[in-house]
Amino acid sequence: MKHFDTSDVMKRLPTQFFAKLVGKAAKVAADGHDIINLGQGNPDQPTPSHIVSAMQTATENPQYHKYSPFQGYDFLKEAIATFYKREYDVNLDPKTEVAILFGGKVGLVEISQCLLNAGDLALVPDPGYPDYLSGISMANARIETMALNRGNNFLPDYSKLSEQALSDAKLMFLNYPNNPTAGVATADFFAETVSLAEEHNICVLHDFAYGGIGFNGKKPVSFLQAAGAKDTGVEIYTMSKTYNMAGWRVGFVLGNQSVIKMINTLQDHFYVSLFGAVQEAAAAALLGPQDCVEDLVKTYQSRRDVFINGLQEIGWNVKAPEGSFFAWLPVPEGYSSESFADLLLEKAHVVVAPGVGFGENGEGYVRAGLLTSEERLQEAVDRIRRLHLFD
Ligand SMILES: Cc1ncc(COP(=O)(O)O)c(C=O)c1O
Repeated sequence: MKHFDTSDVMKRLPTQFFAKLVGKAAKVAADGHDIINLGQGNPDQPTPSHIVSAMQTATENPQYHKYSPFQGYDFLKEAIATFYKREYDVNLDPKTEVAILFGGKVGLVEISQCLLNAGDLALVPDPGYPDYLSGISMANARIETMALNRGNNFLPDYSKLSEQALSDAKLMFLNYPNNPTAGVATADFFAETVSLAEEHNICVLHDFAYGGIGFNGKKPVSFLQAAGAKDTGVEIYTMSKTYNMAGWRVGFVLGNQSVIKMINTLQDHFYVSLFGAVQEAAAAALLGPQDCVEDLVKTYQSRRDVFINGLQEIGWNVKAPEGSFFAWLPVPEGYSSESFADLLLEKAHVVVAPGVGFGENGEGYVRAGLLTSEERLQEAVDRIRRLHLFD
């Protein structure tokens, strides 16, 4: 077979660190071991039934068997604006301040295509969600990392950015509640972000993928709640986590009109828009009863309590996450994040993600997802206890 040459854009794409982890875990499972997989971020529960029913009914509507309108149905954009007003008291113009995405991931890559030229600078959190780097590298732009450390509650310390970086940067990625550290943002932090971005003319992309998941009764704050946020950036929201709709691929980007316009224009070249029935089901989720979201948060919070209390009892000095469905766990002395993840896999058959996969500054931690039952999380704790690492 003839092998065609890969384009330079493809060559620049970062390698998928976690593919290796999946391979290792599959090998241990193939040897017949019972694996507890806390390594991934795939919600384990089904989509609430009223959303599934809305989809079932909508699939019968012949209007949806045709092409959907370019840039999506107005009813969905209006539902998103209603949702943001209800949940965050943020006003959005559905026509100019909302764009529909095929899942948040797509928007995270598209933003760099829209804003960055070759050689431009983007600021990214370290550790951070790997997709930010995918779009930046496709645009052949440069990155400057912003370290997220426990000492600063996993928020970037802007005073550490050089004048050069601040004047060069065109785009900044932020994500709270944070994957992988589970850090949460404050209103003050977003206010500080807006003034920094205004001063240095930086577009902020706030990834609000875990916006629906805050613990101890604290609702995560939206970047768009900060005064002036719409002048300086956009927020991406996804249905994947809040409504257990990861497979449905629905997300939105909201805020700055010039960015929304660019994303819509770029998408006109890639897509028509989502299947109309999916758009109707997404609107039903946003406008319908919200007790499913409350129940989901309660479930993650009880899982968190079982897991974190269990780890603390066996002597592991871990902190309880305040949001997202991840726990960010410091590795004991003498291990790297990878060697510790390997140890847990080989000796306890528990899969966690090595922190270094999220960036150099993720070294020293592993990430565990609360995406299995309390019983399985307790079983993971018991298996780790039997390794006597923290006695
Ligand atoms: C931080 C973060 N952003 C974005 C996404 C993408 O979500 P989706 O593409 O399903 O909307 C994820 C999914 O795991 C995530 O963890």
